Amino acid sequence: MSSTLSRDQVLEEMGISPRWVRRDPATAVRSANLGTAARLPTPEVSVTSAQAEPLPLPLPEKRVAPVLDSRVDIAGMNWEDLRQRIKSCQSCNLCTERKQAVPGVGDESASWLFIGEGPGAEEDARGEPFVGQAGKLLDAMLAAIDLKRGEDVYIANAVKCRPPGNRTPEADELAACFPYLQRQIDLIRPKLIVLLGRVAVASVLGQDASLSSLRGKTLSYRAGDREVPVIVTYHPAYLLRNLPDKAKAWEDLCRARALMRSLKTE
Ligand code: URA
Repeated sequence: MSSTLSRDQVLEEMGISPRWVRRDPATAVRSANLGTAARLPTPEVSVTSAQAEPLPLPLPEKRVAPVLDSRVDIAGMNWEDLRQRIKSCQSCNLCTERKQAVPGVGDESASWLFIGEGPGAEEDARGEPFVGQAGKLLDAMLAAIDLKRGEDVYIANAVKCRPPGNRTPEADELAACFPYLQRQIDLIRPKLIVLLGRVAVASVLGQDASLSSLRGKTLSYRAGDREVPVIVTYHPAYLLRNLPDKAKAWEDLCRARALMRSLKTE
């Protein structure tokens, strides 16, 4: 738990207040969400598209020829080389409009890996993932399950460069960037991956399925000879626009925390 926020404050930041729910569920959820809506800044253009339901999403052709050579190369890189390669990457058109590439942030041998969609305006300016409004909510979500950015947590994105106007990344952009994410997963060796939204799902699992069909399950990502458990939840930018779904995200995070506990005692 964050040292500055109490558990109730954290849950309230997420729009969920269990004490109110117990007394009068309907009123409590409504008022908690209204309270949060009043405090949370209205999402602006800096919030990434964070698709939740609209179809279809572009599925990356991960195994196509144009990226094959670079994949082999990237697959053997250490952290420093990988960061440099990402920062100078010109594998897709996103490089033309970025201020800078945003490789990722956190503990490079973290148990937890959270994967989002792609940098927005603030991330593009600062070079760190999830530092805008969606990032503040992600930090609150982490705090709600006793996690903190950088402490046993790594945060990355499906694409490392900002899509212009925060549009959804195209299939070729996801495919071009996937070797970087794949290498990050290999280097981190996380115990658990949490995918934030449908673009992350499309990139990592190669599935264009509704989040509602994937939530509540423990999925799996093959990293070399390891199967890494995967939990899917809503993207924070989506949650900023759909406050009632924060309760579902809370359920997902609780499941993730329980799963992590069981993984750590195995
Ligand atoms: N949304 C994302 O998916 N990633 C970021 O880094 C910021 C917003």
